[in-house]
Amino acid sequence: MRPNTISGRFAVLTTMFVVLAELFILLPSLAGFRLDYLESRMERAQIASLAVLATDESIALDLESELLATAGVLNVVLRRDDVRQLVLSSPIPGPIIATYDLRTEGVLQTIDDSLAALADRQNRVIRVIGAPVNQAGQLIEITIETAPLRLAMIDYGLRLLAVSAAFSILTAVLLFLAAQRLILVPIRRVISHMSAYASAPEDVRHIIIPDARLAELREAESALQSMQQTVTSSLKQKERMAQLGQAVAKISHDLRNILTTAQIFADRLEDSADPAVRRAAPKLVKSITRAVNLCETTLAFGKAEEPAPTLSRFPLATLATEVIEAETLAGEAAGQVEFLTDIPPSLTIRADRDQLYRVLANLSRNARQAIEATGQPGTIEIGAGETEDDWWIKVCDSGPGLPDRAREYLFKPFTGSTRRGGTGLGLTIADDLVRGHGGRLDLLRSDDEGSQFCIHIPRGLAMGADANR
Ligand SMILES: Nc1ncnc2c1ncn2[C@@H]1O[C@H](COP(=O)(O)OP(=O)(O)OP(=O)(O)O)[C@@H](O)[C@H]1O
Ligand SMILES: [Mg+2]
Repeated sequence: MRPNTISGRFAVLTTMFVVLAELFILLPSLAGFRLDYLESRMERAQIASLAVLATDESIALDLESELLATAGVLNVVLRRDDVRQLVLSSPIPGPIIATYDLRTEGVLQTIDDSLAALADRQNRVIRVIGAPVNQAGQLIEITIETAPLRLAMIDYGLRLLAVSAAFSILTAVLLFLAAQRLILVPIRRVISHMSAYASAPEDVRHIIIPDARLAELREAESALQSMQQTVTSSLKQKERMAQLGQAVAKISHDLRNILTTAQIFADRLEDSADPAVRRAAPKLVKSITRAVNLCETTLAFGKAEEPAPTLSRFPLATLATEVIEAETLAGEAAGQVEFLTDIPPSLTIRADRDQLYRVLANLSRNARQAIEATGQPGTIEIGAGETEDDWWIKVCDSGPGLPDRAREYLFKPFTGSTRRGGTGLGLTIADDLVRGHGGRLDLLRSDDEGSQFCIHIPRGLAMGADANR
């Protein structure tokens, strides 16, 4: 049992407290013992003196000494009928140094007197006054030596201390055992659960089931349980995500190879004899190139970050038109969603063209999907402009606004999706890409009349990056 353990502390503290309690009992007990001692001497002296008074004649010296020795006193004085009479006497070994009147002594005074009696090692003579038993007179007065009283008090005190020590040890052991059973065993159980859980946190069998009888411990167990449940489920989710990530990476990798082959064939279409095929070929090549790029960036995303933007200056209106064309083609019901633009034709922007395409495509696709889900017609408008510091592009729609969940987990991967088949990555990717440009993506407004996202791309970064190129 080590002192820095709960059980060790418990045992030490219990012993200390019991000893302290016993000390508080010891002082009054000693005072009581002294009082009993003196009263019993007085009683004996009274009996001896009554025996002497019973005989009319004076008694022999031997008998008187014997009576006094039996009573354990030196002198006895009785006051009866207002007459003070020295009934028994013997020579006293020294002067009387103090007189104690037991009829008037208070509790504190008694304790004080007994401590003084214990402290004084010398044998002295004292006078003690008390009331005779059975009202056999007005007063009895004895003279005694202090040494026997002190010895008796020491003897009594030591016995009391021995009993206290035994009692405190017994109490400490009992309390220790009770603490072991009530506190330590359940605590150890929680600790062993925690260690087992720490060794395999994904294993639900290691999650603690609260069953402590102590309310506080049960509370701790419940808190631990809910924490373990959260940790385990988020670990599982992370594991699933990692697996999904691996799967996506594999698919993207193979898809890229397939698309590269398709790209080669598409290139050849440009030499086709059919003019219609020749016209469509560049668009097809562009689409396939974009798909290849997407696969590559997905692979890069699997490595935790998007590649740094490759900046170039290009007219924004053209890019927006491409996005709109792709979204119009992808639209479920023709004509349900109307696309508008409000972009000055001369506005050129310095950014990574493919990345910005993905940002606008994600925002427009979300808006289109939200409108289509309502079954009502709607509009999506891409507007843009520039200030001294940055370029801004707004994507506004007349859809139903973002659901609460999407707003709560805005830009958080995998969590904000409310769409069937949605992965919840679109806005995260868009936000990542814009931030990669040193810009920011804001949700300006979202209510039942529509949503507005705004992209800000700083000129500073673009110019700085340009200067380095
Ligand atoms: N313009 C919008 N109008 C209404 N809801 C929107 C709009 N844009 C996003 N949302 C909501 O935000 C959610 C998250 O969008 P996000 O693009 O991140 O994921 P997703 O569209 O569900 O899946 P994906 O990863 O395929 O894009 C969507 O499920 C949708 O509920
Ligand atoms: Mg989306």
